Amino acid sequence: MSKIVSWEIVFGQDDQNLISECHRIRKEVFHLEQKFPLDTEFDDVEHIAYHFLLRVTEQDPASGETTIKSVGTIRGTTPDVYPAINRYKLSRLAVDIDYRKHKFGRLLTEKLHKWIQEDAKATNRPAVVECHSQIPAMGFYAKFGYTPEGEQFDEDGEPHQNMVVNLPLAE
Ligand SMILES: CC(C)(COP(=O)(O)OP(=O)(O)OC[C@H]1O[C@@H](n2cnc3c(N)ncnc32)[C@H](O)[C@@H]1OP(=O)(O)O)[C@@H](O)C(=O)NCCC(=O)NCCS
Repeated sequence: MSKIVSWEIVFGQDDQNLISECHRIRKEVFHLEQKFPLDTEFDDVEHIAYHFLLRVTEQDPASGETTIKSVGTIRGTTPDVYPAINRYKLSRLAVDIDYRKHKFGRLLTEKLHKWIQEDAKATNRPAVVECHSQIPAMGFYAKFGYTPEGEQFDEDGEPHQNMVVNLPLAE
């Protein structure tokens, strides 16, 4: 069993290699594992969203050899992307099934929040974030201060809940 020796999160808006790694993980988790349709998984904001990718470095204890693997992703958009809501949006959070419960979902969410706080400060906008949570994931978002807003609704055939947090501005 390989041991995780380090991790890093990289992000960008137009790095096609990075985006295709994020898309690979999302296809694996949302389409193949959770059975969401592919045509709605990849939507019309992919090119203006910011894509975050978490990579781990693992070491084989026998050989000492190290390998780097992409295991998690999250997506963020600025308020101008959805003028009707005029809020930052967190979406497409996914961690490879074999790497869950290692705090990688937490690390991705914290990194996205940091980026939002800095952008909000630089652009003089409130750091209000919303996400459409699957029902089993609501407890995860609640850990970061998100609270439910409105009624549950159907998205891509599954019930979801809009959840919102107002982050403090970056110092
Ligand atoms: C939801 C998901 C991203 C969580 O990732 P993870 O790496 O396993 O979560 P972490 O280990 O970082 O957990 C962080 C904290 O949230 C808690 N947590 C994780 N999943 C949770 C859940 N479904 N409900 C409540 N709490 C949860 C953990 O216990 C941990 O608590 P702590 O920091 O207080 O000890 C992961 O399960 C996943 O990819 N699921 C499939 C895709 C999905 O459903 N995405 C959400 C779409 S809305």
